[in-house]
Amino acid sequence: MEKKIIYSAVQPSGNLTIGNYAGAIRNWVRLQSEYDCFFAIADMHAITVRQDPAELRRRTLELAALYIACGIDPEKCVLYVQSHVPAHAELCWVLNTFTYVGEASRMTQFKDKSQKHADNINMGLMDYPVLMAADILLYKADFVPVGADQKQHVELARDIAMRFNGRCGETFTVPEPLILKGGARIASLQDPAHKMSKSETENPNASVFLSDDRDTVLRKFKRAVTDSGNEVRYGEEKPGVSNLLNIYCTFKGCTPEEAEREFAGVGYGDFKLAVGETVADVLAPIQKEKARLLAEKDELVSYLVSGRERAAYAARKTLSKVYRKVGFWKE
Ligand code: TRP
Repeated sequence: MEKKIIYSAVQPSGNLTIGNYAGAIRNWVRLQSEYDCFFAIADMHAITVRQDPAELRRRTLELAALYIACGIDPEKCVLYVQSHVPAHAELCWVLNTFTYVGEASRMTQFKDKSQKHADNINMGLMDYPVLMAADILLYKADFVPVGADQKQHVELARDIAMRFNGRCGETFTVPEPLILKGGARIASLQDPAHKMSKSETENPNASVFLSDDRDTVLRKFKRAVTDSGNEVRYGEEKPGVSNLLNIYCTFKGCTPEEAEREFAGVGYGDFKLAVGETVADVLAPIQKEKARLLAEKDELVSYLVSGRERAAYAARKTLSKVYRKVGFWKE
């Protein structure tokens, strides 16, 4: 039987946190044997907010190395850089004519980002979900693993796909968002009411980055906010401790019950140290492999070139079909 197709991408902006690892990359690793996977580095999405060019280039390679270091197998999956495949921009243009301004301007993320970047509400910001639809539809993805914040965009991609199919005949696979179980939402260590953010700058202890060294990880967990009382257990009245327990379970690979049992009678201080050590132990080999890949660049570059070729081949097939359906003449 043909394998179903998975598509996802991450922007090379900001530093990835343990939340990105738990919610996205770690789960992709599990999916790669069961599905045909396309994983992209979304540099074209990244420039919808201002980027420093040298920094963007550096982060692109770093993210590729990180994906692989986390266990994405570039020979099993198609791992590539979005801007290397021109079909993304080309399909985006066609899909723009199947997207209503009203729909695009109602997207929650567009509204949020317009507020945050009020000095630069560019067309790309509004077109962001249409480019995302192009990403997904080019590869005939059945499933799109995303965080809750991107679900609305996948739904728009579905609407665009159905609208196109309705007008021009069956062309696109209608994708479904895949909100993964077990990818517990990881909150800020300083404010458990908010998601751990990769662009957090105000409070340096709020986010644990995948690039943090052991001492930094331990320090951040030591300073993590806890709650009143002194028992380590889950509870609505214990958002800080519950978040730390979630992190522990994710990185240790244990159940919430097992974690509660393990920490029965343990004080907050020792508990936070244990969580920090567990996270640091998982990060160490990832950081080592990432550094190796970045130092011996040839291997990494060859993966990305091969990814580009395989992605471009699949994308070209879909794009040609679309061009035919909309009536573009070709010799
Ligand atoms: N917008 C996504 C994010 O920031 C990244 C992304 C770009 C993506 N293209 C995609 C995710 C296609 C899923 C499918 O998280």
